[in-house]
Amino acid sequence: MRRVQRVLVTGGAGFIGSNFVHHLVSHTDLTVTVLDKLTYAASRDALAGLPESRVRLVVGDVADAGTVDPLVAEHDAVVHYAAESHNDNSLTDPSPFVQTNLIGTFTLLEAARRHDTRLHHISTDEVYGDLELDDPERFTEATPYNPSSPYSSTKAGSDLLVRAWVRSFGVRATISNCSNNYGPWQHIEKFIPRQITNVVDGVRPKLYGSGENVRDWIHADDHSSAVLAILERGAIGETYLIGADGEKNNLEVVRLILGLMGQPEDAFDHVTDRAGHDLRYAIDSTKLRTELGWLPQFGDFEAGLAATIDWYREHEAWWRPHKDATEATYAAKGQ
Ligand code: NAD
Ligand code: DAU
Repeated sequence: MRRVQRVLVTGGAGFIGSNFVHHLVSHTDLTVTVLDKLTYAASRDALAGLPESRVRLVVGDVADAGTVDPLVAEHDAVVHYAAESHNDNSLTDPSPFVQTNLIGTFTLLEAARRHDTRLHHISTDEVYGDLELDDPERFTEATPYNPSSPYSSTKAGSDLLVRAWVRSFGVRATISNCSNNYGPWQHIEKFIPRQITNVVDGVRPKLYGSGENVRDWIHADDHSSAVLAILERGAIGETYLIGADGEKNNLEVVRLILGLMGQPEDAFDHVTDRAGHDLRYAIDSTKLRTELGWLPQFGDFEAGLAATIDWYREHEAWWRPHKDATEATYAAKGQ
Protein backbone atom coordinates (compact mmCIF):
# COMPACT_ATOMS: atom_id res chain seq x y z
CA MET A 1 0.00 0.00 0.00
CA ARG A 2 1.22 3.53 -0.83
CA ARG A 3 2.44 5.58 2.14
CA VAL A 4 0.07 8.51 2.63
CA GLN A 5 1.89 11.79 1.93
CA ARG A 6 -0.62 13.87 -0.02
CA VAL A 7 -4.20 14.16 1.21
CA LEU A 8 -7.15 15.64 -0.66
CA VAL A 9 -9.70 17.12 1.77
CA THR A 10 -13.06 17.84 0.13
CA GLY A 11 -15.13 20.50 1.86
CA GLY A 12 -11.98 21.68 3.63
CA ALA A 13 -13.16 25.30 3.72
CA GLY A 14 -16.22 24.41 5.80
CA PHE A 15 -16.64 24.23 9.57
CA ILE A 16 -15.32 20.72 10.31
CA GLY A 17 -13.20 20.23 7.18
CA SER A 18 -11.13 23.35 7.92
CA ASN A 19 -10.63 22.16 11.50
CA PHE A 20 -9.27 18.88 10.09
CA VAL A 21 -6.89 20.71 7.74
CA HIS A 22 -5.46 22.64 10.71
CA HIS A 23 -5.23 19.36 12.65
CA LEU A 24 -3.28 17.68 9.81
CA VAL A 25 -0.86 20.60 9.58
CA SER A 26 -0.16 20.60 13.32
CA HIS A 27 -0.12 16.83 13.94
CA THR A 28 1.41 15.34 10.75
CA ASP A 29 3.90 16.19 7.99
CA LEU A 30 1.33 15.55 5.23
CA THR A 31 0.63 17.99 2.42
CA VAL A 32 -3.00 18.90 1.87
CA THR A 33 -5.12 19.95 -1.09
CA VAL A 34 -8.53 21.35 -0.24
CA LEU A 35 -11.21 20.86 -2.90
CA ASP A 36 -14.12 23.14 -2.08
CA LYS A 37 -16.87 24.77 -4.12
CA LEU A 38 -16.92 27.70 -1.67
CA THR A 39 -20.69 27.63 -1.14
CA TYR A 40 -22.39 30.00 1.32
CA ALA A 41 -21.14 27.69 4.13
CA ALA A 42 -17.45 27.96 3.27
CA SER A 43 -14.89 30.40 4.56
CA ARG A 44 -11.47 31.19 3.13
CA ASP A 45 -10.72 32.85 6.50
CA ALA A 46 -10.90 29.46 8.19
CA LEU A 47 -7.82 28.43 6.17
CA ALA A 48 -5.91 31.70 6.58
CA GLY A 49 -2.38 31.52 7.95
CA LEU A 50 -1.69 27.93 6.95
CA PRO A 51 1.72 27.36 5.29
CA GLU A 52 1.48 27.62 1.49
CA SER A 53 4.11 24.89 1.20
CA ARG A 54 1.72 22.44 2.90
CA VAL A 55 -1.82 23.55 1.95
CA ARG A 56 -3.39 24.65 -1.33
CA LEU A 57 -7.02 25.41 -2.17
CA VAL A 58 -8.66 24.23 -5.40
CA VAL A 59 -12.06 25.83 -5.94
CA GLY A 60 -14.27 23.25 -7.61
CA ASP A 61 -17.25 20.93 -7.37
CA VAL A 62 -16.93 17.44 -5.94
CA ALA A 63 -19.64 16.32 -8.37
CA ASP A 64 -17.57 17.40 -11.39
CA ALA A 65 -15.60 14.36 -12.62
CA GLY A 66 -13.34 16.53 -14.77
CA THR A 67 -12.13 18.33 -11.64
CA VAL A 68 -12.17 15.36 -9.28
CA ASP A 69 -10.48 12.65 -11.32
CA PRO A 70 -7.04 14.28 -11.84
CA LEU A 71 -6.99 15.51 -8.24
CA VAL A 72 -7.72 12.05 -6.85
CA ALA A 73 -5.05 10.61 -9.15
CA GLU A 74 -2.34 12.83 -7.67
CA HIS A 75 -3.18 12.16 -3.99
CA ASP A 76 -2.59 9.12 -1.76
CA ALA A 77 -5.79 9.58 0.26
CA VAL A 78 -9.04 11.51 0.16
CA VAL A 79 -10.99 12.64 3.23
CA HIS A 80 -14.47 13.52 2.06
CA TYR A 81 -16.23 16.25 4.08
CA ALA A 82 -17.91 18.16 1.23
CA ALA A 83 -21.67 18.19 1.67
CA GLU A 84 -24.73 20.30 2.02
CA SER A 85 -25.01 20.01 5.80
CA HIS A 86 -28.04 21.85 7.19
CA ASN A 87 -31.30 19.99 7.85
CA ASP A 88 -33.47 23.11 7.71
CA ASN A 89 -32.15 24.01 4.24
CA SER A 90 -32.84 20.48 3.03
CA LEU A 91 -36.50 20.93 4.00
CA THR A 92 -36.70 24.11 1.89
CA ASP A 93 -34.82 22.78 -1.17
CA PRO A 94 -33.49 19.20 -1.21
CA SER A 95 -32.00 19.49 -4.70
CA PRO A 96 -28.40 20.56 -3.83
CA PHE A 97 -28.35 17.86 -1.15
CA VAL A 98 -29.05 15.15 -3.72
CA GLN A 99 -26.52 16.65 -6.13
CA THR A 100 -23.60 17.17 -3.74
CA ASN A 101 -24.13 14.46 -1.15
CA LEU A 102 -25.07 11.65 -3.54
CA ILE A 103 -23.61 12.55 -6.94
CA GLY A 104 -20.55 14.14 -5.32
CA THR A 105 -19.80 10.98 -3.33
CA PHE A 106 -20.43 8.80 -6.38
CA THR A 107 -18.01 10.94 -8.41
CA LEU A 108 -15.28 10.60 -5.79
CA LEU A 109 -15.83 6.85 -5.46
CA GLU A 110 -15.43 6.35 -9.20
CA ALA A 111 -12.18 8.32 -9.14
CA ALA A 112 -10.92 6.38 -6.08
CA ARG A 113 -11.77 3.14 -7.88
CA ARG A 114 -9.95 4.19 -11.05
CA HIS A 115 -6.80 5.28 -9.21
CA ASP A 116 -6.88 2.87 -6.22
CA THR A 117 -6.85 5.81 -3.82
CA ARG A 118 -7.63 5.40 -0.11
CA LEU A 119 -10.89 7.18 0.81
CA HIS A 120 -12.33 8.17 4.17
CA HIS A 121 -15.97 9.20 4.04
CA ILE A 122 -17.30 11.61 6.68
CA SER A 123 -20.87 10.97 7.72
CA THR A 124 -23.34 11.63 10.47
CA ASP A 125 -25.19 9.85 13.27
CA GLU A 126 -28.42 11.09 11.65
CA VAL A 127 -28.33 8.14 9.25
CA TYR A 128 -29.67 6.03 12.13
CA GLY A 129 -32.81 8.12 12.66
CA ASP A 130 -33.67 9.00 16.23
CA LEU A 131 -34.01 7.38 19.67
CA GLU A 132 -36.65 7.68 22.36
CA LEU A 133 -35.59 9.88 25.29
CA ASP A 134 -35.60 6.88 27.66
CA ASP A 135 -34.03 4.34 25.28
CA PRO A 136 -31.14 2.72 27.20
CA GLU A 137 -29.43 1.83 23.91
CA ARG A 138 -27.28 4.28 21.92
CA PHE A 139 -26.36 4.10 18.22
CA THR A 140 -23.67 1.54 17.36
CA GLU A 141 -22.12 0.46 14.06
CA ALA A 142 -24.81 -2.27 13.92
CA THR A 143 -27.83 0.07 14.23
CA PRO A 144 -30.07 -0.16 11.11
CA TYR A 145 -30.26 2.91 8.89
CA ASN A 146 -33.49 4.91 9.28
CA PRO A 147 -32.89 8.54 8.19
CA SER A 148 -35.63 11.17 8.58
CA SER A 149 -34.77 14.31 6.59
CA PRO A 150 -33.70 14.99 3.00
CA TYR A 151 -30.24 15.84 4.43
CA SER A 152 -29.85 12.66 6.47
CA SER A 153 -31.28 10.45 3.73
CA THR A 154 -28.71 11.74 1.23
CA LYS A 155 -25.95 11.13 3.80
CA ALA A 156 -27.31 7.60 4.38
CA GLY A 157 -27.37 7.04 0.62
CA SER A 158 -23.79 8.24 0.31
CA ASP A 159 -22.68 5.81 3.06
CA LEU A 160 -24.37 2.94 1.22
CA LEU A 161 -22.60 3.90 -2.01
CA VAL A 162 -19.27 3.74 -0.15
CA ARG A 163 -20.10 0.31 1.29
CA ALA A 164 -21.08 -0.99 -2.15
CA TRP A 165 -17.90 0.34 -3.79
CA VAL A 166 -15.82 -1.38 -1.08
CA ARG A 167 -17.54 -4.70 -1.57
CA SER A 168 -18.07 -4.68 -5.33
CA PHE A 169 -14.92 -2.93 -6.53
CA GLY A 170 -12.46 -3.29 -3.65
CA VAL A 171 -12.23 0.47 -3.05
CA ARG A 172 -10.09 1.05 0.05
CA ALA A 173 -12.57 3.09 2.06
CA THR A 174 -13.63 3.67 5.65
CA ILE A 175 -16.66 5.56 7.02
CA SER A 176 -17.20 7.53 10.20
CA ASN A 177 -20.54 8.71 11.61
CA CYS A 178 -20.16 11.54 14.09
CA SER A 179 -22.56 13.34 16.40
CA ASN A 180 -23.23 17.12 16.58
CA ASN A 181 -20.07 19.24 16.43
CA TYR A 182 -19.51 22.61 18.01
CA GLY A 183 -16.58 25.03 18.00
CA PRO A 184 -15.12 27.93 15.98
CA TRP A 185 -16.05 28.63 12.34
CA GLN A 186 -19.48 26.98 12.47
CA HIS A 187 -21.98 28.79 10.25
CA ILE A 188 -24.44 30.95 12.21
CA GLU A 189 -27.41 29.09 10.72
CA LYS A 190 -26.60 26.22 13.13
CA PHE A 191 -28.09 25.99 16.62
CA ILE A 192 -25.24 27.00 18.95
CA PRO A 193 -23.73 29.86 16.89
CA ARG A 194 -27.21 31.13 16.00
CA GLN A 195 -28.12 31.50 19.67
CA ILE A 196 -24.75 32.98 20.68
CA THR A 197 -24.94 35.62 17.95
CA ASN A 198 -28.58 36.33 18.80
CA VAL A 199 -27.61 37.06 22.40
CA VAL A 200 -24.74 39.28 21.21
CA ASP A 201 -27.39 41.20 19.23
CA GLY A 202 -29.78 41.43 22.19
CA VAL A 203 -32.20 39.00 20.49
CA ARG A 204 -33.78 36.13 22.46
CA PRO A 205 -32.59 32.60 21.46
CA LYS A 206 -35.06 30.57 19.40
CA LEU A 207 -35.90 27.06 20.57
CA TYR A 208 -37.70 24.74 18.16
CA GLY A 209 -40.78 23.17 19.73
CA SER A 210 -40.48 22.12 23.37
CA GLY A 211 -36.67 21.99 23.37
CA GLU A 212 -36.63 18.42 24.72
CA ASN A 213 -34.71 17.17 21.65
CA VAL A 214 -31.33 15.74 22.61
CA ARG A 215 -28.08 16.10 20.67
CA ASP A 216 -24.77 14.42 21.57
CA TRP A 217 -22.24 17.27 21.43
CA ILE A 218 -18.58 16.82 20.50
CA HIS A 219 -15.95 19.51 19.98
CA ALA A 220 -14.77 19.73 16.33
CA ASP A 221 -11.14 19.20 17.48
CA ASP A 222 -12.13 15.80 18.90
CA HIS A 223 -13.85 14.91 15.61
CA SER A 224 -10.62 15.75 13.77
CA SER A 225 -8.40 13.62 16.02
CA ALA A 226 -10.80 10.70 15.54
CA VAL A 227 -10.74 11.03 11.75
CA LEU A 228 -6.93 11.11 11.74
CA ALA A 229 -6.86 7.95 13.90
CA ILE A 230 -9.14 6.20 11.38
CA LEU A 231 -7.10 7.43 8.41
CA GLU A 232 -3.91 6.13 10.03
CA ARG A 233 -5.11 2.93 11.72
CA GLY A 234 -8.67 2.17 10.58
CA ALA A 235 -9.43 -1.18 8.92
CA ILE A 236 -10.54 -0.93 5.29
CA GLY A 237 -14.28 -1.48 4.85
CA GLU A 238 -15.05 -0.61 8.48
CA THR A 239 -17.39 2.01 9.93
CA TYR A 240 -16.52 3.87 13.15
CA LEU A 241 -18.93 5.93 15.24
CA ILE A 242 -17.45 9.11 16.73
CA GLY A 243 -18.93 10.60 19.90
CA ALA A 244 -17.86 12.11 23.21
CA ASP A 245 -20.72 11.17 25.58
CA GLY A 246 -22.08 14.73 25.31
CA GLU A 247 -25.86 14.29 25.42
CA LYS A 248 -27.77 17.49 26.28
CA ASN A 249 -31.26 18.62 25.39
CA ASN A 250 -31.66 21.89 23.49
CA LEU A 251 -33.29 23.59 26.47
CA GLU A 252 -30.22 22.84 28.62
CA VAL A 253 -27.90 24.20 25.91
CA VAL A 254 -29.88 27.43 25.50
CA ARG A 255 -29.92 27.95 29.28
CA LEU A 256 -26.16 27.33 29.46
CA ILE A 257 -25.53 29.88 26.67
CA LEU A 258 -27.74 32.47 28.37
CA GLY A 259 -26.09 31.88 31.75
CA LEU A 260 -22.56 32.07 30.31
CA MET A 261 -23.50 35.31 28.50
CA GLY A 262 -24.89 36.97 31.62
CA GLN A 263 -28.59 36.72 30.70
CA PRO A 264 -31.55 35.29 32.64
CA GLU A 265 -31.81 31.57 31.82
CA ASP A 266 -35.46 31.89 30.74
CA ALA A 267 -34.83 34.71 28.22
CA PHE A 268 -35.59 32.58 25.14
CA ASP A 269 -38.59 32.03 22.83
CA HIS A 270 -40.21 28.81 21.67
CA VAL A 271 -40.70 28.94 17.87
CA THR A 272 -42.21 26.72 15.17
CA ASP A 273 -40.76 23.22 15.36
CA ARG A 274 -38.70 21.68 12.53
CA ALA A 275 -40.76 19.30 10.35
CA GLY A 276 -39.89 15.68 11.17
CA HIS A 277 -37.59 16.88 13.98
CA ASP A 278 -35.46 13.97 15.26
CA LEU A 279 -35.94 13.51 19.00
CA ARG A 280 -32.61 12.18 20.22
CA TYR A 281 -29.19 11.16 18.93
CA ALA A 282 -26.69 9.29 21.12
CA ILE A 283 -23.44 7.62 20.09
CA ASP A 284 -21.69 4.58 21.54
CA SER A 285 -18.09 5.05 20.37
CA THR A 286 -16.69 1.93 22.09
CA LYS A 287 -15.34 0.47 18.84
CA LEU A 288 -13.27 3.56 18.02
CA ARG A 289 -11.97 3.79 21.58
CA THR A 290 -11.06 0.12 22.02
CA GLU A 291 -9.82 -0.74 18.51
CA LEU A 292 -8.01 2.50 17.66
CA GLY A 293 -7.26 3.86 21.13
CA TRP A 294 -9.00 7.22 20.49
CA LEU A 295 -10.20 9.38 23.36
CA PRO A 296 -11.88 12.81 23.27
CA GLN A 297 -9.98 15.67 24.93
CA PHE A 298 -12.88 18.13 25.42
CA GLY A 299 -14.73 16.38 28.26
CA ASP A 300 -16.14 19.60 29.76
CA PHE A 301 -18.95 20.83 27.48
CA GLU A 302 -19.56 23.97 29.51
CA ALA A 303 -15.89 25.00 29.24
CA GLY A 304 -15.91 24.26 25.49
CA LEU A 305 -19.09 26.28 25.08
CA ALA A 306 -17.61 29.21 27.03
CA ALA A 307 -14.56 29.18 24.72
CA THR A 308 -16.87 29.04 21.69
CA ILE A 309 -18.85 32.03 22.98
CA ASP A 310 -15.57 33.96 23.39
CA TRP A 311 -14.57 33.00 19.84
CA TYR A 312 -17.84 34.34 18.33
CA ARG A 313 -17.50 37.54 20.36
CA GLU A 314 -13.95 37.99 19.03
CA HIS A 315 -14.86 37.12 15.40
CA GLU A 316 -17.89 39.33 14.88
CA ALA A 317 -16.37 40.71 11.67
CA TRP A 318 -16.51 37.17 10.23
CA TRP A 319 -20.16 36.37 10.99
CA ARG A 320 -21.76 39.81 10.99
CA PRO A 321 -22.17 40.09 7.17
CA HIS A 322 -24.32 36.92 7.18
CA LYS A 323 -26.48 37.52 10.22
CA ASP A 324 -29.36 39.54 8.75
CA ALA A 325 -29.91 37.25 5.77
CA THR A 326 -29.72 34.12 7.96
CA GLU A 327 -32.28 35.50 10.40
CA ALA A 328 -34.56 36.69 7.57
CA THR A 329 -34.67 33.12 6.22
CA TYR A 330 -35.66 31.80 9.64
CA ALA A 331 -38.20 34.57 10.26
CA ALA A 332 -39.98 33.71 6.99
CA LYS A 333 -40.61 30.22 8.44
CA GLY A 334 -41.69 31.46 11.87
CA GLN A 335 -38.41 30.29 13.37
P1 NAD B 1 -20.36 22.95 6.30
O1 NAD B 1 -21.66 23.19 5.65
O2 NAD B 1 -19.83 23.89 7.31
O3 NAD B 1 -19.21 22.81 5.18
C1 NAD B 1 -19.40 22.08 4.01
C2 NAD B 1 -18.29 22.46 3.04
O4 NAD B 1 -18.48 21.69 1.84
C3 NAD B 1 -18.29 23.94 2.63
O5 NAD B 1 -17.00 24.46 2.66
C4 NAD B 1 -18.84 23.91 1.22
O6 NAD B 1 -18.38 24.98 0.39
C5 NAD B 1 -18.34 22.57 0.72
N1 NAD B 1 -19.15 22.06 -0.38
C6 NAD B 1 -20.51 21.99 -0.45
N2 NAD B 1 -20.89 21.50 -1.64
C7 NAD B 1 -19.73 21.24 -2.33
C8 NAD B 1 -19.48 20.70 -3.62
N3 NAD B 1 -20.46 20.35 -4.45
N4 NAD B 1 -18.19 20.55 -4.00
C9 NAD B 1 -17.19 20.93 -3.18
N5 NAD B 1 -17.38 21.46 -1.97
C10 NAD B 1 -18.63 21.60 -1.54
O7 NAD B 1 -20.47 21.48 6.89
P2 NAD B 1 -19.81 20.83 8.20
O8 NAD B 1 -20.72 21.05 9.32
O9 NAD B 1 -18.40 21.24 8.28
O10 NAD B 1 -19.90 19.30 7.79
C11 NAD B 1 -18.85 18.69 7.05
C12 NAD B 1 -19.16 17.22 6.89
O11 NAD B 1 -19.30 16.60 8.17
C13 NAD B 1 -20.46 16.92 6.14
O12 NAD B 1 -20.24 15.78 5.32
C14 NAD B 1 -21.45 16.60 7.24
O13 NAD B 1 -22.46 15.73 6.77
C15 NAD B 1 -20.55 15.92 8.25
N6 NAD B 1 -20.98 15.99 9.65
C16 NAD B 1 -21.27 17.21 10.22
C17 NAD B 1 -21.59 17.25 11.57
C18 NAD B 1 -21.90 18.57 12.26
O14 NAD B 1 -22.27 18.57 13.43
N7 NAD B 1 -21.74 19.72 11.61
C19 NAD B 1 -21.64 16.07 12.33
C20 NAD B 1 -21.36 14.85 11.69
C21 NAD B 1 -21.01 14.82 10.36
O1 DAU C 1 -25.94 14.89 14.33
C1 DAU C 1 -25.03 15.38 13.41
C2 DAU C 1 -25.66 16.50 12.61
O2 DAU C 1 -25.69 17.64 13.47
C3 DAU C 1 -24.92 16.82 11.32
O3 DAU C 1 -25.00 15.72 10.46
C4 DAU C 1 -25.48 18.06 10.64
O4 DAU C 1 -24.70 18.41 9.52
C5 DAU C 1 -25.48 19.21 11.64
O5 DAU C 1 -26.08 20.36 11.06
C6 DAU C 1 -26.24 18.81 12.91
O6 DAU C 1 -27.63 18.61 12.61
P1 DAU C 1 -28.80 19.16 13.61
O7 DAU C 1 -30.01 19.31 12.80
O8 DAU C 1 -28.84 18.33 14.84
O9 DAU C 1 -28.11 20.58 13.99
P2 DAU C 1 -28.72 22.04 14.16
O10 DAU C 1 -27.60 22.90 14.65
O11 DAU C 1 -29.45 22.50 12.96
O12 DAU C 1 -29.80 21.88 15.32
C7 DAU C 1 -29.44 21.30 16.58
C8 DAU C 1 -30.72 21.16 17.40
O13 DAU C 1 -31.21 22.46 17.74
C9 DAU C 1 -31.86 20.48 16.67
O14 DAU C 1 -32.61 19.71 17.59
C10 DAU C 1 -32.71 21.65 16.14
C11 DAU C 1 -32.53 22.68 17.24
N1 DAU C 1 -32.60 24.09 16.85
C12 DAU C 1 -31.85 24.50 15.77
C13 DAU C 1 -31.84 25.84 15.40
C14 DAU C 1 -31.03 26.31 14.20
C15 DAU C 1 -33.32 25.00 17.61
O15 DAU C 1 -33.98 24.63 18.60
N2 DAU C 1 -33.31 26.33 17.26
C16 DAU C 1 -32.60 26.79 16.18
O16 DAU C 1 -32.60 28.01 15.92
